Amino acid sequence: MPSFRFLSSACNSKIYAQYSAKKMDLFNPVGMRLESHPLDMNSRPERMKVNKIATKPFPDQKPGTSGLRKKVRVFQQPHYLENFVQSIFNCLPESERGMLIVGGDGRYHNRQAIQVILKMAAANGFRHILVGRQGLLSTPAMSVLIRKYKACGGIILSASHNPGGPEGDFGIKFNTTNGGPAPEKLTEAIYQQSLAIEAYHILEIEDISLDEIDSCTLGRTRLDIIDPVEDYAELMSRLFDFGRIKTLFDSGLFRMVFDAMHAVTGPYAKEIFEHRLKAPPDTVINAVPLEDFGGGHPDPNLQNAQELTSLMFSGEAPDFGAASDGDGDRNMVLGRHFFVTPSDSLAVMAANIHHLPGYHSGLAGVARSMPTSRAVDRVAESLGVECYETPTGWKFFGNLLDSHKITLCGEESFGAGSDHIREKDGIWAVLFWLNLIAVRQRPVSEIVQQHWRRFGRHYYSRHDYEEIESTMAEALMHRLAEQLHTLKGRQFGEFRISECDDFSYTDPVDHSISSHQGLRFLFDDGSRLVFRLSGTGTRGATLRLYLERYLADPARHNLDLQQTLAPLAAIADDIAQIKKYTGRDKPSVIT
Ligand code: G1P
Ligand code: ZN
Repeated sequence: MPSFRFLSSACNSKIYAQYSAKKMDLFNPVGMRLESHPLDMNSRPERMKVNKIATKPFPDQKPGTSGLRKKVRVFQQPHYLENFVQSIFNCLPESERGMLIVGGDGRYHNRQAIQVILKMAAANGFRHILVGRQGLLSTPAMSVLIRKYKACGGIILSASHNPGGPEGDFGIKFNTTNGGPAPEKLTEAIYQQSLAIEAYHILEIEDISLDEIDSCTLGRTRLDIIDPVEDYAELMSRLFDFGRIKTLFDSGLFRMVFDAMHAVTGPYAKEIFEHRLKAPPDTVINAVPLEDFGGGHPDPNLQNAQELTSLMFSGEAPDFGAASDGDGDRNMVLGRHFFVTPSDSLAVMAANIHHLPGYHSGLAGVARSMPTSRAVDRVAESLGVECYETPTGWKFFGNLLDSHKITLCGEESFGAGSDHIREKDGIWAVLFWLNLIAVRQRPVSEIVQQHWRRFGRHYYSRHDYEEIESTMAEALMHRLAEQLHTLKGRQFGEFRISECDDFSYTDPVDHSISSHQGLRFLFDDGSRLVFRLSGTGTRGATLRLYLERYLADPARHNLDLQQTLAPLAAIADDIAQIKKYTGRDKPSVIT
């Protein structure tokens, strides 16, 4: 057994047992089950048959930006999921297999995969497993639970914002004991395990019903089926001023719509916005999680969240609109006829964080992924706090959060979060904005425009060229990287490249180095172009081009976004020959 250690604290299943016993009293005054009454319905005998199944490695189980993501069909191959799960377990010494938490975003294949994982976790000696009712857990809720119950890790089944269904995508990611995504050294160790695997262990039992809150034992493993929302909602109510947010809805003058996109946040949003904050019952739309997300693409952007977008730009527009993605970690925020770019959202949050009760001590520092606009850098500078620039992917924020170097972090890809957990958090971001609106008593558009007047506006957009041929995408990046030294100093009309490089990051905490994280071009006027290839796609390659232009003059803050960025897009095509290499004359998605 390899001894890669990623646990820093002992696992503790007692905490959950005590908590759930208490909670059950409330739900169940008669006092059945849990500690006092071992379950008969679901209990499995102490000794169950553990099968050791011989297997062969798959060569393609290298996790990407966020776990292992593949087509459903790939995961449905015999042994495919099992191999990867055993590879994760193999990286965790047997003595440290305490509590494991399992859940997913409800997409197609979620339920089948969870059954396999539960049976494997019990066979691999985990002492305690928590699983969300119906197999549901949002990514941020997983992070909350791992931290609260000091679990040794969690397995999330999701392909985030990628479409679901039999022809769609599936994914699996492992989060460590800090509640955050496995760092690169661990994902690499898992990958190495997957290349050498010869067998996996699995219990021979029938499927376990996950439809009701319940508890049972699987051999010597205790299994609790838990409410996926409760702990998360409780943390949110401590971070934000729910009383104050309620006054918005009580007034009857403020209207909000939250689009759950038939993904995992539906039950969370219903509980938090409608039940606890008393927003009207039709506030949450597309609230029921569906295996194929209702045929939609659960990515909260202007293109995919069509229903919400059209509403927010219509004559009927409410004051505030928001959406989240498949697994609940992304957010999109809109005001009436007004879209807040995720980069601006992060900057506004940083500039206003002291208004919120849960963050009254302000910011220790902030971080953003490299391609994210530099709007937040200006706020950090004015506050005199550090702004860290990390590679793409939430896992790079973990060390900064754990060592208290930052309070807030975000990515241009509709992700924002804080030190409350170790994942980005969709509903948290929406609550942040609601709390801010309640405090500032101003519409979203005014809050953002005021921000621009103070700090200047970073016009920002991402152009994606999806599902292009991998060899061509790599050739484009390779050619561009080779030209970096000749491009520095080159003039393109009014724009001159002052710096360019292949981004490499040295983690300030563990000093690990992550190189080739994107090619970036900085211009004299503060504009930027960034090129990188996606690490989450499941077909071909996706080229992402990030465009940013800074204009300080308030007279130039209401220009058309794409027109303002057009000269930079033309330079991008000139230096990277995008049209030629991708065979496309325009991006497939613009956000
Ligand atoms: C994308 C986003 C990135 C985000 C990740 C997971 O990764 O760009 O910011 O962390 O999804 O949600 P990419 O496909 O660009 O590698
Ligand atoms: Zn996601």
